[in-house]
Amino acid sequence: MHQLTIEPTFTAWRDAARLLLHHDVPPQQIDWHDTRAAPALPLSGLALPLDPPSKPHHRVPPRFLEQAQTVAHHRDPRRWSILYRTLHRLTHGEPQLLSIASDDDVRDLEVMAKAVHRDRHKMTAFVRFKRVERDAEPHYVAWYKPAHYVVPLAAPHFRDRYAAMRWSILTADECVHWDGNDLRFTPGVARDAAPADDELETLWLQYYGSIFNPARIKLGAMRKEMPVRYWPQLPETRIIPDLLQAAPARVAEMVARSQALATEMDMTDVPQTNSIKILREAACACTRCPLYKPATQTVFGEGPDDADVVFVGEQPGDGEDRAGKPFVGPAGRLLDEVLEEVGIDRKRVYVTNAVKHFKFEPRGTRRIHVKPNAREIAACNVWVTKELEIIKPSVLVLLGATAAQALVGRQFRITQQRGEIFESAWSPWTMATFHPSALLRVPDEAARQEMRAHFTADLTQVSKKLRHAG
Ligand code: URA
Repeated sequence: MHQLTIEPTFTAWRDAARLLLHHDVPPQQIDWHDTRAAPALPLSGLALPLDPPSKPHHRVPPRFLEQAQTVAHHRDPRRWSILYRTLHRLTHGEPQLLSIASDDDVRDLEVMAKAVHRDRHKMTAFVRFKRVERDAEPHYVAWYKPAHYVVPLAAPHFRDRYAAMRWSILTADECVHWDGNDLRFTPGVARDAAPADDELETLWLQYYGSIFNPARIKLGAMRKEMPVRYWPQLPETRIIPDLLQAAPARVAEMVARSQALATEMDMTDVPQTNSIKILREAACACTRCPLYKPATQTVFGEGPDDADVVFVGEQPGDGEDRAGKPFVGPAGRLLDEVLEEVGIDRKRVYVTNAVKHFKFEPRGTRRIHVKPNAREIAACNVWVTKELEIIKPSVLVLLGATAAQALVGRQFRITQQRGEIFESAWSPWTMATFHPSALLRVPDEAARQEMRAHFTADLTQVSKKLRHAG
């Protein structure tokens, strides 16, 4: 048996595996380690010629390589050896191996890949930033404890979402930082327990000096590069009047956007609690977006804290805004009707919304529903996600596109994915279906009947699942 220690990356495993395969080293002769799990082991006890393979590589299904890239992020130290054994089998007489779902190696890899995907998704959903000041500039810091080594997989999500902010996510394995231009990875913070809220700030301040270059572009320096007196001679100056005219609107848009993102990241108004009651009280004072101003009140979720199933809608309507309770208007009555039809007890259901204030346009004496925009949904997201974190429903039903996009991503399409069951960060059994208001809006009777049949069929699946579960 040879000891082999590699860097803990897919590339390092692939390079080593290619070499071993080239020299026909059987899997049982290699004891795989990586420098993260066993940094003290000697680099390699293997007596292999170091020359790289000269004969053509073995052909392996692209699906395997894709899966191996994911599995490399799993925490199980056995992953390298399972990957190599599978690779060896694929190239030594078992080319169809991956289609044998009952095979132990195939199953292990499948389970590991799924766990990594789920963990990446959880990280994108559960990271909570705290605003800290440094050099009079805001920086957002989060502490997180992923189950697997998913920081590099989740980092692009945060980069794209919070491109305009400066942030750091600290974990025990590895940290990632965004300074507005580059993602930077640094070693993990050596602590096994999550720091308390105020400790997070101290931890970050200690850390800061070593990771950021505080140099900033200075306006003065820019002026030096292109002194103002030369501006009239430059051809570009011809477009300056146009630029100046467009500038206030663009600046206002940029400011609004960065304020919205700052609100989304800032969690200071959200209590760290496991109580829906405390959360509801905090949400009643919510001013995270301007929708609280014209609305009568916050309409928070309602139902048992230990409900097996949570239904999430879009936002309260006119009746809900006045009553302070979700789903009590026409859409709620339709929902109640179908719940009864399929045998779900409404008293066992927790109902809530992605947005907690009614957004409307006054028209005469009426208040007409207006769809919330992406910023309002994002600002409100902390409440619904915290509700789900506390309740941990075994079944989650997303009613309509706003709820689905708020909780499982903007790429979600009700028209294509309605009625499908999938695991989300919030529940192992998640489904999106029509919003009952959408049924009420369809003018054509036949089309409405058809939609209602789909809606009833989806909720029948929910009912069956709930009966099965308990
Ligand atoms: N529509 C919703 O999405 N939620 C309600 O509470 C009422 C109508």
